[in-house]
Amino acid sequence: MKTLIQKIASFRESEVTLSGWLHNKRSSGSLIFLELRDGSGFIQAIVNKQEVPEKVWQAAESLTQESSLSLTGIVKSHPKKENLFEVQVTDIRVYQISEEFPIAKKEHGPDFLMENRHLWLRSKRQWAILRVRDVIQTAVNEYLHQENFIRTDSPVFTPNACEGTTTLFPVPYFDLGHAYLSQSGQLYSEAAIFSTGRVYDFGPVFRAEKSKTKRHLTEFWMMDAEAAFVEHDENMDIQEGMVKYIIKKVLADCQEELAVLERDVTPLQKVLEKPFTRLTYDEAIPKLHELGSDIKYGEDLGNDDEGLLTKDSDVPVFIHKWPKAIKPFYVKRDPNNDELALNVDLIGIEGSGEIIGGAQREDNIELLLERIKHEGLDEKDYDWYLDLRKYGSVPHSGFGLGLERMVRWMTGAEHIRECIPFPRLLNRIKP
Ligand code: 4AD
Repeated sequence: MKTLIQKIASFRESEVTLSGWLHNKRSSGSLIFLELRDGSGFIQAIVNKQEVPEKVWQAAESLTQESSLSLTGIVKSHPKKENLFEVQVTDIRVYQISEEFPIAKKEHGPDFLMENRHLWLRSKRQWAILRVRDVIQTAVNEYLHQENFIRTDSPVFTPNACEGTTTLFPVPYFDLGHAYLSQSGQLYSEAAIFSTGRVYDFGPVFRAEKSKTKRHLTEFWMMDAEAAFVEHDENMDIQEGMVKYIIKKVLADCQEELAVLERDVTPLQKVLEKPFTRLTYDEAIPKLHELGSDIKYGEDLGNDDEGLLTKDSDVPVFIHKWPKAIKPFYVKRDPNNDELALNVDLIGIEGSGEIIGGAQREDNIELLLERIKHEGLDEKDYDWYLDLRKYGSVPHSGFGLGLERMVRWMTGAEHIRECIPFPRLLNRIKP
């Protein structure tokens, strides 16, 4: 019976055929131990010289790391470890004997691994990260649908900026001059709520940011959620619910992956026990001064500031109501303080930094126009966006989750380059 390693538990004492690649091999006298990986998992298969035809033994001997094969055998419970299985091989079909694989068991530097990203993805660690990434995306989709959001998606070619003009990537666009690669689908999600109420998009976004940090990519995946009739506090409630849902699902569905990654899950379990901290910017600044930061009122929080605010916290921290001067044009101002904006950043624990950025949106057309002009943006580029404030404008809010930031936090990966299959960085677009 053809099956996947992931489903092996239901085939105890039966014959199965598994197809994949040789991850590792060792031999001991008349036994060869093959570690097979098939994408769904890893399993040990044992070839006993006394029990298989000579050609099967020779096939096992010929296998090199990454050779592709199918093997047939009987599923046995591991003699010592519960819930672990192995296969007593009866037959082997070789597809290709791999050339010597460049990524050996020894340590390689990051440059070498990045140049060989197409091959590096096969390592157990990268396998585990890719799978956690998939579970996070599934969790986001599930949670948002439970909360009655529907996925509408936003374009990648856009005529105007969403997150400031300094990080735009222009691309030639036929007779129309140029387009920009989207920095966030938010403005389009805002339009879509007037059709379907609660929406989200999920796709690649681009920032020409010259940041060489462990948390910045030039192309990353963002989920922009947007909801009509949701105001500032409820916006935070939805974000908190989503982050907790993601953590629960990762803990439940990724036990093997988290073990491969040697991820201590205790901090993640603790996040589920309490409400997230909510600090206003005005509360955060004196707190940062007490903690030794030299940040000045009106400045953006740096990486170190985010670390200080979360270092003794078991739960992520929302920093909200920032000075409007350092926030984008679309953010609604605080009705109780004209200088502040109803925006919010969610800072994860364990050094994960900003995971989500969101805000209640300015729904008053005059105030919005004032902000567009103040930021030196061309009003004409935003005429369609301004229309949304002319025809049944409503209070509405939304937020953007940086997928790879979330993957980095959940997996404990040191660098964000491991959190996307093919990272795009300041100095790298290949492979
Ligand atoms: O805070 P940002 O810039 O917010 C927006 O773009 C809003 N328009 C989203 C919205 O309200 N719908 O970005 C959102 C998130 C950040 O919190 C961070 O997680 C991630 O996107 N992010 C990056 N991730 C990787 N590399 C980068 N260069 C990133 N810049 C932002």
